[in-house]
Amino acid sequence: MTFINKRSCLIWSTESHALLARNLAKSLSLESQPVNIHHFPDGESKVTLPDTSPSQLILVTDLSQGNDALIELLFIIRGARQQGVKHIILVAPYLPYMRQDVAFHPGEVISQQVFGSWLGELTDTLITVDPHLHRINTLEAVIPETHIFTLNASPYIGQHLKSAYNNPLLIGPDNESAQWVSSTAAAGKLDYHIANKTRLGDKHVEIEIDVKQMSGREVVIVDDMSSTGHTIAVAAQHAYNSGATSVHAVITHALLTSEGMAVLKQANIKNIESTNTIPHSTNSIDLSNMLAATLKTLL
Ligand code: R5P
Repeated sequence: MTFINKRSCLIWSTESHALLARNLAKSLSLESQPVNIHHFPDGESKVTLPDTSPSQLILVTDLSQGNDALIELLFIIRGARQQGVKHIILVAPYLPYMRQDVAFHPGEVISQQVFGSWLGELTDTLITVDPHLHRINTLEAVIPETHIFTLNASPYIGQHLKSAYNNPLLIGPDNESAQWVSSTAAAGKLDYHIANKTRLGDKHVEIEIDVKQMSGREVVIVDDMSSTGHTIAVAAQHAYNSGATSVHAVITHALLTSEGMAVLKQANIKNIESTNTIPHSTNSIDLSNMLAATLKTLL
């Protein structure tokens, strides 16, 4: 593992994570500089790096906004290497392409493997938060050759839920969520229940929940990510039908578009909260301190 020498290290960030980068820079007493990205009308991107290139770079970036972010990451990292950067620590709080971890049908590319080995070639150290690992247990198996810090937001989410709600019942909408929901519940000393989900299409899920536990309870649906909002909306419908007094949602990675937000509002979700792994209007749980604490172990 390579340690950070403060005299030869800078933080760079793409625009959407500029605030997080500034928070980290303040905690670490480092300078943070923006990477400028111009989007041409034909969809191509032009990346302009800061004037000064350090020998050690902490790059803070948001990889949630589709494939453009990936080509831009490639340009930033290859450009930085050309300018003499030796060691790259990528802070990517949200990691995309983690859900396609097997070929569900013949011919399907296992995106997780391809993306993981590509990221491994680009970076020396990776810091991320709660990657969606399901059939593959560790990120080290996905991203070889990179030193990885996989951080867990559950303690922050659990403590937040404990103070913001009145002894809520946490619901995880599917088996995959059990890992996050159980540790969130443990952190807040809260009750939880895991439902069963069957996905029938991008916007069509069916959920079965043991209904008896929800009557008269304030319910918070906890998921690692929400995209179209349908998983949480269907779980909420069950909760209301089962007598929940109010239903809320907390998401680690808020991939929600405006359409997804409308789906959640339509489902009468009262509070929609998220961590700031992805900049989003629902952000209420700040993970800057957790990320900074990890970076400090490298100083
Ligand atoms: C899936 O396994 C994830 O944990 C989420 O439940 C899923 O990605 C949510 O997607 P959507 O909001 O589109 O239902």
